[in-house]
This record gives sequence, structure tokens and C-alpha cells, in this order.
Amino acid sequence: MDKKQVQENMHKLTTELNRHNYNYYVLDKPEISDIEFDRMLKELEELEKQHPDFASPDSPTQRVGGAITKKFDTVIHKYPMLSLGNTYSKAELEDFDKRVRKTLGEDYAYVCELKFDGVAIGLTYTKGRLTRAVTRGDGVQGDDVTANARTIRSIPLNLHSKDIPQEFEARGEIVMPHKSFIRLNEEKQLNNEPLFANPRNAASGSLKLQDSSLVARRNLDCYVYGILGEDLPFASHFENLEKARQWGLKVSDLTRKCDTIEQVMHFVEEVENKRPQLPYDIDGIVIKVNSYHQQEHLGFTSKFPRWAISYKYKAEQGITKLLDVHYQVGRTGAVTPVAILQPVAVAGTIVKRASLYNADKMHEMDLHYNDTVYIEKGGEIIPKIVEVDTSLREQHAHRIEFISHCPQCETPLERNDGEAVNYCPDSAHCPPQIQGKIEHFISRRAMNIEGLGEGRIEVLIQNKLISNIADLYDLQYEQLLGLEKIITDEFTEKQKKISFREKTVNNILGAIESSKKVSFERVLFALGIRFLGETGAKKLARHFLSLQAIQSSSYEDLIAVPEIGERIAGSVIAYFNDPENLEIVRRLKDAGLQMETQKSVTENAAGLPLSGKSFVVSGVFEKFSRNQVKELIEQNGGKNVSSLSSKTDYLLAGDKMGPEKKKKAEELNIPVISEEDFEKMIG
Ligand code: IVH
Repeated sequence: MDKKQVQENMHKLTTELNRHNYNYYVLDKPEISDIEFDRMLKELEELEKQHPDFASPDSPTQRVGGAITKKFDTVIHKYPMLSLGNTYSKAELEDFDKRVRKTLGEDYAYVCELKFDGVAIGLTYTKGRLTRAVTRGDGVQGDDVTANARTIRSIPLNLHSKDIPQEFEARGEIVMPHKSFIRLNEEKQLNNEPLFANPRNAASGSLKLQDSSLVARRNLDCYVYGILGEDLPFASHFENLEKARQWGLKVSDLTRKCDTIEQVMHFVEEVENKRPQLPYDIDGIVIKVNSYHQQEHLGFTSKFPRWAISYKYKAEQGITKLLDVHYQVGRTGAVTPVAILQPVAVAGTIVKRASLYNADKMHEMDLHYNDTVYIEKGGEIIPKIVEVDTSLREQHAHRIEFISHCPQCETPLERNDGEAVNYCPDSAHCPPQIQGKIEHFISRRAMNIEGLGEGRIEVLIQNKLISNIADLYDLQYEQLLGLEKIITDEFTEKQKKISFREKTVNNILGAIESSKKVSFERVLFALGIRFLGETGAKKLARHFLSLQAIQSSSYEDLIAVPEIGERIAGSVIAYFNDPENLEIVRRLKDAGLQMETQKSVTENAAGLPLSGKSFVVSGVFEKFSRNQVKELIEQNGGKNVSSLSSKTDYLLAGDKMGPEKKKKAEELNIPVISEEDFEKMIG
């Protein structure tokens, strides 16, 4: 194939793939199979690799992302991004119409649209090409998230039509469809990561990811609900939206022009009925006066346009039976009641449990077994019970009482004055609390023992191999090899098998061994002394220099340390008064953990390899976390500074460091060193 043929071929593939993308993501009407699409995409990718000069910036291969944005640029909106006045009542909607009629004194029409529950976005198209995507921000200025928006398949990178204005801005909402949301949370759950509370937060979080290839995998969608510009084809909203649809932008089919407020009301009801079946969240209907001229005439209040309003639906509710109440014991010992429900569909998901918060809230509702309850999905992951229909209560139904003993270890529950939580006081022996302590101990910022995540701790506890943090250091290869357990995830109900194969066991034991080098201040934090956070541990470690000194210090000695208050001091004293804790600490010391620190690093810095040198650390490193690098700098007598100045000695650059930093270092003549250089420096 000669060059010209290759170029033509690539152009053809690009156009074809863009058309299929549009059919699939905007029209929801695919013409070819996913396999066929992927085959064509691969072919184009291959050609682009061989002939990068011919690759178009609008190539569908660019949708997979790859650009890394360290910090989003702030962009001032050409047209401010306004918000809308809300109402929940039809009577107020009538009032809105009366005001419009009175002010205009002539015929007018409304446009009714879905009020999407996502993140607002402004998409600028210049000569038909997507040039910028900016979030709402504070309405005046927002973040430039173009690289991320480009990965959203329903946002066209290029528009094809003769009547496209030179420049215009499409306003719309980025939403995460229910299906993608559920999948994302399932994935997060499996990785033991915190879940997103709702699709809006998930959409917003996704759009702010720094790695656009991750955004590409989040399956976001974008609906356009407004067009702004100087040379738009029409002087009215509805007609311009229709045009935008023809240009290739995704405009919802549930957009209606209505001549009367009655038609508006009808649309509001129509959509309310369709709402449970919509694949994404909406929270109401937006009603806008169609003519721009009339919009201008109506103007604005101090906050909102007078030509538009949003009618909000009530949160979606479901009605079902309360079967039972279960009690969960958290990692800190707090006991939370959870309602077990007859499964019911609400807002796109099947609900089987509802949050009851605590004993007081539960008793307030006076719940009885088999009660008929109304549940609602708010901003939380777990829905809540909003009402009990007592008229439907069975005659001899039993009242549900809060438990008196820990469901995990049978210890009588306690409650502190003025607090609403009931908790299990036996923190040393109650299994979820043991687990919580060990999870904290091994966490990245504490001992950083990798390989024990994803339910492995649970397996070790159940097999009675560990019951406290010191037991970790007695674990033997033979005890671990071959352990296995199938765990059913509570949230996803998916089963996963946890097994301890040779490689895993070696990794775990290796990580435990390496943890013996972790600095004293982190060991102190890892002990899990109540209220003693990372900063407090650092302060105490640097002040007393050894665990022995902390252990034998008095309450007064402790509160004399800057930033150590009564609460922490009291808790430290209580910790070392408990013989079980003393035994654990003794065993940790025997195992070889760092129980002291050298004289304050700065005081003792002279003679250390990095003494007197200041470092800016940026990017991602291969062998160490960024925190570890910073710690190494301090341990070797160096100083960490946050930004580059003429006084900085080195810029320690990891992967993915922003180009501006490098440029600035070069301008200031600051040597840029790699992780390897750094290792050599500290020997
Ligand atoms: S129009 C002046 N239309 O709601 C009009 N907004 O409260 C400005 N939203 O931040 C907005 N769907 O994110 C408009 N069909 C729709 C909408 C919509 C959702 C969001 C938007 C904005 C907020 C306004």
C-alpha cells in the first residue's frame, strides 16, 4: 500500500468508527456488533502506530484516554453557568406561569426538559471541533476537564454539518447510568475501596480523575440541554436544541415544546411515570421559556433566571415489608442496626436492606416484625425507612428491641453519656474489632504490609492464626500455605475465593519482615491507640524518642507536648495501663520493630548524606510511596519543601511529573534527579 492509500484507509476507518460511535452512544441504535467495532478500532490503532503523522486528533482511538492532568486549569466561563429556582409544588408552577404571562403579555411557549442529576458541563465547539470542556465550578469559573470529556463517547469530537456556528457552547450534564454505577461500586467493593454514594458523586468523581484512561472506563454519558453563542441558527431554545441534535450532540428525546401550562403539567406527570425505567437519575423537570427574546425580557432575579424553573420530584419511594433487623459490629465496636426487607425495586436498583442508624432512631420508629414500611433512596448508598404504615400492622406483632449483647462476642453492650452509639467494649477480643485493629496496623500509612488485604486478615482470624497485631510476627510459612476460603460479598453477593498460594505467602512474609524497618513514629501510629493519629504519633515520637519513654511518662508529661491534648494523653495512659497491651508491645519489640528513633533528625542532621539539602518530591515512584521517599529524605538529614524556589537543592522526579515543574527546575537551574540517583545519594 502506498502512503496515499494508507492515509485514505485511515480516514475511512476514522469516519466509519465515528459514525458507529454516534449510532451506539448517541442514537442508541448500533448497526454493527461490538466485536466488529473493536476489530476496526484495532486496525486503526495499528495503522496510527505505524503512521503517527496521519492520525487525526479526532480519531476514535483517542477516546481511550491516556492524557494525565496533574491539576486542572481554571477557566472563566464566557457565559456564566447559572442555577435554577426550584419548586416541589404544582401550585408554584402555576404561579410561575402567571408571572411569565403577566410580564410578557403575549403568546409564548415553554420547553420542558429532564433535570438530569449529574455534573454540569460546558462544551465549546470551534469550527465544529470540540476545543474545551469546563465544569461548572462556582458558576463564574470552572475546571478545564477537556482530556477527560473527550473519553465520553456521546460527546462528539467533531460535528459534521454546514450550518454550524463558528463557535458555540453546548451546555449539558454528564451522568453515570445506573448500570455503570452499579458495576463501578461492585468493582470498588471487591477492591476494598470506599463506594460512591450515588451516581452523581460517581460522575463528579470520575470527571475529576487525573488519568483520562480511567475516566474512559467509567462509561459516562452526556446530555445537552442548552446552546449558547453569537451566531446561532435560531432565536429560540427548542429549535436550536433540535439543530444540536442534527449536528450530532445527544439531546434527550424527552424534550417537549408546550404551548400551555396544562401541557407542561401533563409532561411532568408523563415523565414521573417513566422515571423508574430511566437508565440514569433525574430529579425533576426543567421548564424554560422558548424564545430568547422573551427570555431577555423576563430577565433575572438576583440569583435565578425568571424565564426558567425546575420542578423537583420527590425522592423515589418503595413500599415493602420489614422482615428482621440485623446488627453490624463495626471495626471500632459501634453496633449499627440494619433493616432486612422483602426485596423491592427503587430508583433502578433492588433494595433489600435499609439503614436504621442507631438504637434511638430505631426505637423512635417503634418498629414491629412484618411492618409495612416506606423506603427512600437519598444521597446514601443504603436507603432509609421514612415511614411505617401502622394501620397495616399485624395484630399480635412483636416490637423489635435493640440487642443488649454484642452479636459477635456476647459482651454486654455499653453506651457513653451523650452519645447515640451502642458499642461493644471488648475491643481486644471482639472479632470485627480485632480485624479493624489489624487492618489499621498493616495499612499503607502505618506498617505498610502489603498482600494481606482483600479479606486475608479475616481468613487468618477465623483460622485462629492471629488474634492481635503481635501474632503477625509469629506467622510461619507452613501455617499459611494452602489456606483457602470462599467469601460472599455482602454488597454484590458475588463470591470470591481467597487462597494462599506459594507466591502470596512469600510476599506476605516478606512484607511482614520488611515492616521491621518502618520508623518508630509509624509503629506508634500503627498500634492503634485511640485518638492518636499520624500527626500526634509523630509529635510524641519526636519528643520522647522511644516507646519506653512514652510508656513511663505521666499524663502531665504528655500534655506538655505541643498539640497533644487531654483526650490523646488520657488515651495513651489508658493504653499502657492495660497489661494485654503491654504484652503486645513487648512481643513487637522482641520481633525487632523500631521502638525508638534517633535524636531529632534536624538536630542530628550534620554528617548525614543529605544534611543541609532541600528537596521537592514530585510524581510517582517505583520502589517507594511518596511518603516513604519524604521520610527517607528526613531520616538522611534532608528537608522536604513543597514548591520549587531558588533555594531548593534538588527536584526528585518520579513518573508522571507535570512538565511545568520540570521547566521551572530548569529555569532555576535546579538539578532534576531520579529515584535511582536518590538511592545512590543515600547509599
Ligand atoms: S438549565 C439558567 N437544564 O441543574 C439555566 N439545567 O440548577 C441553567 N440541570 O447546574 C441551567 N438538567 O447542572 C438546565 N435540563 C436542564 C438541566 C439542568 C440538569 C442542572 C445543571 C445546573 C442545575 C441548575
